[in-house]
Amino acid sequence: MKISIIGTGYVGLVTGTCFAELGHQVICVDCDENKVRMLQAGGMPIYEPGLEELVRKNVASGGLRFTASTKEGVEQSQAIFIAVPTPPLEDGGVDLSFVEGVAREIATSMTTYKIVVDKSTVPVRTGEKVAETIKRYCKSKVEFDVVSNPEFLREGFAVSDFLHPDRVVIGVTSQRPVQAMKDIYGPCEAPIIVTDINSAELIKHAANSFLALKISYINALSVICEQSKANIQEVANGIGMDARIGRPFLDASLGFGGSCFPKDLSAFIKISEQLGYDFALLKEVQKINTHQMDRFVKKITDTLWVVKDKTIGVLGLAFKQNTDDIRMSPAIDLCHRLQKEGARLRAYDPKAMEKARAVLTGVEYVNDMNEVADGCDALVIATEWPEFKKLDLERARRKMTHPILFDGRNLFDAAGMERLGFIYKSIGR
Ligand code: UGA
Repeated sequence: MKISIIGTGYVGLVTGTCFAELGHQVICVDCDENKVRMLQAGGMPIYEPGLEELVRKNVASGGLRFTASTKEGVEQSQAIFIAVPTPPLEDGGVDLSFVEGVAREIATSMTTYKIVVDKSTVPVRTGEKVAETIKRYCKSKVEFDVVSNPEFLREGFAVSDFLHPDRVVIGVTSQRPVQAMKDIYGPCEAPIIVTDINSAELIKHAANSFLALKISYINALSVICEQSKANIQEVANGIGMDARIGRPFLDASLGFGGSCFPKDLSAFIKISEQLGYDFALLKEVQKINTHQMDRFVKKITDTLWVVKDKTIGVLGLAFKQNTDDIRMSPAIDLCHRLQKEGARLRAYDPKAMEKARAVLTGVEYVNDMNEVADGCDALVIATEWPEFKKLDLERARRKMTHPILFDGRNLFDAAGMERLGFIYKSIGR
């Protein structure tokens, strides 16, 4: 099928590339001409495991191309996917101006029947607004259907999540686009849920809020574990083996971050408020998340007593493993807080240092994870990159002024670290 994707960010680029991989003819559209030129020249604006190879392969085979012209994308496609940002407003609501702008552009470029699919994360009932907008701005009164098709990709695993999804959600207002949507996703061989458009939109916010709730639940339990000398990982394993609970998303941490959970939680609270419901449960999820970072910072300041002029090594700047994304990264937040206390920072991340440099200044960026420890009064693990487990701990202990390690991701065995001579503080253990 001929498909265009409007918006070539994390979601749009992965979606377009994977659709091409599934055998569709795809045009990725972005209004940023520099980005389009970069992609046309074989460059990548983001790091996502496996993506670059797939882009290269599908561009070479002619199934994937890039343009800055929405008109071209719309004219040459049967289905048009909207994958533009929906950033937060100051009051926690959602800025839908990019979605609205794209809907208008689609409307003015349509000359034959189109399926307009919303992939951006949007408040429930946005589909109705998109349909109204297209109707209003489409002078030639062409027929179209609006579909909601939320994405559930995790950054860092987006390609495999796309090609092997747990489920595909398709929200419609009529049966007309259903077969085409099933054909688009057919090669994935995943269960397809066809539902009404409002439910589809709600599924997205409900899923992300539930996952965030799961993390805040385990983080709250981590406080109880610390107070009672229990071990949060044992508790997570014990409750996670109950199939009704499940083990994923029960890793205690210094809090969740990223461009999705914090924003989607605030948005869902706001949407609920506008619908007349005070979603106090989700407000508590946010509070626990903030508290978790506060507690982690306090652990560091309590142990070091005076942070001013201490050198602290930070391992990890991305908001999680396998990505170069630093948006709402707990690691960056932590660095800012430590700087505020007067700490000198040395930092390393396998992929995110370039992006971090733009928002985190006054830090000594180190190109080797083992060298971060040199001369440090303490070392902090802020992101769960698997390679940090291979840190040369013997070397770190020798090279540090004091062998103190604060592990915000529970990567190491506490008893083993103490045997190695570290003062080791982790989460909920
Ligand atoms: C999340 C959802 O998992 C995706 O399903 C969704 O499509 C995406 O948001 C989105 O809305 O676009 P993502 O933000 O890429 O994906 O990352 P996650 O893997 O969900 O992690 C989010 C945060 O929670 C990270 O900071 C991570 O370190 C933290 N986390 C995750 C924990 O602290 N503990 C866990 O057990 C799991």
